[in-house]
Amino acid sequence: MSNFLTEIFYVLQPWIPHLLFVSIVLFVFQKYGGSHIQPWFFSKVYTPSLSNYHVKLRSMKQQHFDSMKDQISADPILRKKGALRILEIGPGPGFNFEFYPAKSELTVVEVNPFFEDQFFKKQAEHPHIKMDRFVVGFAENMKGVPDNSIDIVVSTMVLCSVRSIEGALQEIRRVLAPGGKYYYWEHIREYKYFWVLFVQHLLSYTVYDLIFGCRLNRKSDEVIKANKCGFSSIEQQRFRTPLEPGFDQLCVFHSAHVKGIATK
Ligand SMILES: C[S@@+](CC[C@H](N)C(=O)[O-])C[C@H]1O[C@@H](n2cnc3c(N)ncnc32)[C@H](O)[C@@H]1O
Repeated sequence: MSNFLTEIFYVLQPWIPHLLFVSIVLFVFQKYGGSHIQPWFFSKVYTPSLSNYHVKLRSMKQQHFDSMKDQISADPILRKKGALRILEIGPGPGFNFEFYPAKSELTVVEVNPFFEDQFFKKQAEHPHIKMDRFVVGFAENMKGVPDNSIDIVVSTMVLCSVRSIEGALQEIRRVLAPGGKYYYWEHIREYKYFWVLFVQHLLSYTVYDLIFGCRLNRKSDEVIKANKCGFSSIEQQRFRTPLEPGFDQLCVFHSAHVKGIATK
């Protein structure tokens, strides 16, 4: 047990003062300063802290999204143009633009309005994507998006933050056209190392929730696989992001991932 605690302390030690400081500041602001501080702060720290992650995993993500190009739109007008209607939930700063096939028409539903500027800057670098709408709202309630209207839904590292995974999945299935596909790539609850899971629980209900609005200990893979909302097929694989120096100091706590495609 003492080895176990020493190991946890060793991994977390350089981060403890920073995490504590930011948590206390956010706690005070949330309590006394309204609800805007956390989303604003998150939009500022997220992009620089995750850019390495996205560079290192680019080719793996590319492979995951590659089959999108074979999808045929359910909309006859888009089909004629060889285009797809894509909905991304929680795009943040727009790291996924580069994976979308040319001529895609993109709607996004993002709860944090402070990402809007970064998102549109990124969009300017990808003129082959036509921006339809940036909706500030919840994936669990996409009432502005009609039933059966979307060819592809995408989420990457979003189910850790939504209020209800089941609610988001129901909405995703509702808006997808028959035969439409949901591509997901999510970090999940640790399934092998008990001590990592232990720290995930600790962080999830404290600093991670306060700073990133994120739960490290979610079993998103199991919830999707349970398929309560009735996808016709689900193919998914667990994988781990690399544990290597310079990748991401805290990555051991969100190394367990799942990627998959669910078809309506
Ligand atoms: C960890 S970030 C991931 C950003 C981006 N998808 C990526 O892969 O880098 C989670 C994103 O989901 C958004 N988000 C959280 N809860 C949401 C919800 N209920 N509906 C829509 N977006 C949500 C957050 O604002 C944030 O932009």
